[in-house]
Amino acid sequence: MNKFYITTAIDYVNSVPHLGHAYEKIAADVFARFYRLKGYDTYFVTGVDEHGTKIEKAAKAANIAPQEFCDNITAKFIDTWKTLNISYDDFIRTTQERHIKAVTKIFEKLYANGDIYKDSYKGWYCSGCEAFLQEKDLVDGECVIHQRKAEWIAEENYFFKIAKYKGRIKQHILDNPGFIQPEGRRQEVLHLIDDFKDVSVTRQSVEWGIKVPIDDTQTIYVWLDALSNYITALGYLSGNEESKLSPTLSLTMDSTHSTSSVTTSSPTEERENDGKFSRYWPANLQLIGKDILRFHTIIWPSMLLGLGLTLPETIYIHGFIYSRSLKMSKSLGNVVDPNELVEKYPVDAVRYYLLREVVFGADGDFTLEAFEQRVDADLANNLGNTLNRTLAILNKNLQGIVPEGEVDSNIIALIEKVVNDVDNSMKKFAIQDALISIWELVNAVNKYIDNQKPWAIAKLVKENPDDKNTFKSLCDVLYTSLESLRVIAILLSPYLPDITSKIWEQLGIIQPLQSCKWDNIKSNQLKTGTKTNHKGPVFLRVGSELADKSKKL
Ligand code: MSP
Repeated sequence: MNKFYITTAIDYVNSVPHLGHAYEKIAADVFARFYRLKGYDTYFVTGVDEHGTKIEKAAKAANIAPQEFCDNITAKFIDTWKTLNISYDDFIRTTQERHIKAVTKIFEKLYANGDIYKDSYKGWYCSGCEAFLQEKDLVDGECVIHQRKAEWIAEENYFFKIAKYKGRIKQHILDNPGFIQPEGRRQEVLHLIDDFKDVSVTRQSVEWGIKVPIDDTQTIYVWLDALSNYITALGYLSGNEESKLSPTLSLTMDSTHSTSSVTTSSPTEERENDGKFSRYWPANLQLIGKDILRFHTIIWPSMLLGLGLTLPETIYIHGFIYSRSLKMSKSLGNVVDPNELVEKYPVDAVRYYLLREVVFGADGDFTLEAFEQRVDADLANNLGNTLNRTLAILNKNLQGIVPEGEVDSNIIALIEKVVNDVDNSMKKFAIQDALISIWELVNAVNKYIDNQKPWAIAKLVKENPDDKNTFKSLCDVLYTSLESLRVIAILLSPYLPDITSKIWEQLGIIQPLQSCKWDNIKSNQLKTGTKTNHKGPVFLRVGSELADKSKKL
């Protein structure tokens, strides 16, 4: 069986999640659900980055111990991902013992390999980036991304020999056009890799981090710690010996994603995790935002080569979500809280807007006006309406029972085309194109109903109950619509898991939608005699006050 291992960046917990964080996790969730649907052995990891100066400072400002501060914010991330139906298999925290133990060994292994050396360092540090910046990157002494003063730091650090690996990485990028995507980002990396300097991988003045095993005056640099999560989550170097560190309490989600609980990892878990590493590494898709490109395309591959591990298949760099065309910031008051959106609107409206409106890989913008317009047009008017009117006519004329019928040949051909198009688009990471293709089918079915006018055929059937041909055409039209809706629900399930499960329920299909596989899409699988379950529109216009009602259906 093919496998698909997908990861996201792990979020800093200096503040609560915003729509930008949510965007990345939703996109990753779509790929995970898509590959599960395709029958791949899929593993999806996300989590939080809890160490470093940024968190240390935020905890201090809140007057709370760093671990407690992390526990509070991490719980908010977990809740948000639950609300947004993010179907991750593992949620890693960098303060978990399993991670700390493995990162310590990763450091030791790289040091033993001669990849880490001690030197003194002087430079400008931005705690927003958690990185040293060059003088030329500063404007009036400020980091341009975080618009805050960089600090002058002079200290003894351990350095990672990027110089040892960058030639091999460059060659790998040249030989494998799919390694860094989209292409513009690949070019960006090719431009900066030659001048990339060795990086400091420890800090002297930062307390909140993993201690350097060979020198307890230093902590491991937050990026070396964080990047390792992609392999420590799979149990890399988890070993079975007792940890020298005291156990760290950790907040984890159970596998049904429904509850959070405080746990420590057990030896059994470690043994299982050993298996996960060989089962899932290398990652097939690592999703990250554009601001953390160089960490993932130069430092991370260098670490992997140093550890003797295979590089991931694809690192895909998505764009940023802006709010009213501006970077979300507390001072501008334009931070969009995904939880507030989901309190007011159906969760799939939020997912749909981000996935359909933004070209994956490019930047996108969020405004309430565009949001309401997009979801009202596509979800309420087209998708919701197609189901609603089909089931209403079926109820009125055939007691809501799926008749025996033949699917229209044009619709069969379109289904075949759309299934192929969606598959191809997803291979190219073109989520928006995949949705546009699915809507080709939604619109075609709506138009088919308009043209065939089943309500008028039904009237003729009532007038001439013995006319078998008219009755057959009514059955064919309704069966075509119902069968198309079944296909649409399966195709759309990775993107809109909530609405599609409601469509599924109304269609009355017994096999759970989650257990459907790509092969189930083939036409003519809707069983004659199925009792549908019409409950009204699955999606009401969000612009209307009825929005809340559609959430409850
Ligand atoms: N902790 C590091 C990542 C370590 S990964 C080993 C970090 N954290 S972050 O919280 O700042 O960002 C997490 C992810 O969210 C990153 O991929 C980042 O690019 C993404 N985004 C942060 N703001 C964003 C938007 N406004 N829009 C889209 N994605 C954004 O960096």
